[in-house]
Amino acid sequence: MPYTVGLQTAAAAFLSAGLPIQFTFAIVSFLLIVFLLDAFQHDVPDTPKSLPRCSLLAIHPFFRKRFEFLNWGIYATGSTVFKFKLLRNTVVVVSGESARQAFFAAKELDLTEGFKILSGAIPMVKGVTSDLQSKRIALIHKRLAAVQREASLSQLIPVILEDIRKQMDSWDGAGTFDPFDKIYELLFQVTIRSLSCSEIADDPVLVSRLKVLYDKLETGTTPATVLLPWLPTPSMIKKLWATKEIYDIVVRAIDARQKSGVYKRDTLQMLLETGDDRLVVVGFIMGLIIAGARATGTTACWLSTYLGGHPEWRAKAAQEVSSLLAAHWSASSERESLSKRLAAIPLKAWETEAPVLDSLIRETTRVAQPHVAMRRNIGRDIYIDGKIIPTGSYVVYPFSDVHLDPELYSDPWKFDPGRQEPKEVPLSYIGWGAGKTTCLGTRLAKVELKLVTAMLVLGFRHSVVDADDQLRSLPTPNWNDTLLCRPNERFYLKYEKTDQYL
Ligand code: HEM
Repeated sequence: MPYTVGLQTAAAAFLSAGLPIQFTFAIVSFLLIVFLLDAFQHDVPDTPKSLPRCSLLAIHPFFRKRFEFLNWGIYATGSTVFKFKLLRNTVVVVSGESARQAFFAAKELDLTEGFKILSGAIPMVKGVTSDLQSKRIALIHKRLAAVQREASLSQLIPVILEDIRKQMDSWDGAGTFDPFDKIYELLFQVTIRSLSCSEIADDPVLVSRLKVLYDKLETGTTPATVLLPWLPTPSMIKKLWATKEIYDIVVRAIDARQKSGVYKRDTLQMLLETGDDRLVVVGFIMGLIIAGARATGTTACWLSTYLGGHPEWRAKAAQEVSSLLAAHWSASSERESLSKRLAAIPLKAWETEAPVLDSLIRETTRVAQPHVAMRRNIGRDIYIDGKIIPTGSYVVYPFSDVHLDPELYSDPWKFDPGRQEPKEVPLSYIGWGAGKTTCLGTRLAKVELKLVTAMLVLGFRHSVVDADDQLRSLPTPNWNDTLLCRPNERFYLKYEKTDQYL
């Protein structure tokens, strides 16, 4: 039988070929199978419409040009609910008012499982991240609630302000900087302070190292690291290495605290005193830093940019913070630093007497938070807008569908904190989540953003300039950049410290 001989020869040739050839052959075969399965697939009547092109072509734009890709999908299928494949995974994209409500209410849709495959910032490492089962995750969320209780959060305010002051002290009296460097760095420091321990937060070298490592995890997320996590690509190896280094830093800090026996009033102390197992403590610190730093960092970068381009809102914010100071800081004969004076404002006042700061944060999270909610259906088959979401499939809802809808927000790209809230439409603002999934770090995030903004508007004058130091119009957030909304053209904040800074 000549064909068996042929096969044997081919097999022998394959086995004697070098590893790179075998590897390439395996990948090509895999992609071919995906392609063939695609071609023979037929939709049943209540299946969402499929994208009119081969699924392999969806991978790159989903990861690299997500905003454009999802908008194009709605246009190309002429449907508010459509589906596409990411290799063997079915992803259903839903949009529109009724789909939004169904998406956020469905108990079958799981956030953790959705993010694991579609985002994949943290690689699943056996014994560390992959073992964080729902019971442990629930415990981590409970501890996060404890960090944000009145007493703990109040205690954090002066420490956070001191961190902000230290970073701002390192800036010259006047100059220009890229907000995605300096403001982001500030929020990273504050996040580490709030969610970990003084052993790390007091060590600037360790904090910068962690920032580099977390950046590696996020920017090193490629289609291959997410969809083929078992494939030892250079990006995956770098990500695993970064995860291990983060893990080592966190574990060393925990060991140092336990060995020293010294009591410190910080989040790590609270975690250790609860007696949770080590995986919960490590998972809390490693996981929440990634959840917290990126969203607050992006919001703070854009908020400071918008304030730089809207002097009227900057003045309103400065006025509001000055009034809070007037009400809560009793001036002594000696002048105190701005951070010390702001520390006298109680948590309650930040939360209930700062409507201008509230509307600034709300508008920034509407227009410059490029979130796409991701879920996996871990229950029975469900229907959204009459279309089936089978068990095991993934579902995504892009926040742009509601936050950039011109019917709800006229001139949606315009930053206008004074705009009327579209109250008559359900879930018309979902900046902090909705339904059964709301942000569990909201209280902390809002306080951090208010403290940074207060320091900026009273301690500085600032405006937005281009690379030639010329005043420029405000940039438009780039929603294709799923991390920072960073536009392609560079811009900077030009600043000068005021007498109030001290
Ligand atoms: C400006 C800052 C922030 C914004 C705009 C934000 C926004 C959100 C949104 C929209 C969700 C829901 C996601 C979805 O439905 O897919 C979410 C979930 C979550 N956020 Fe935040 N977040 C911020 C900061 C933080 C911080 C600082 C922490 C932690 C300290 C945090 C922890 C979480 C957690 C744990 C969840 C998942 C909740 C769950 O599993 O039910 N977030 N956040």
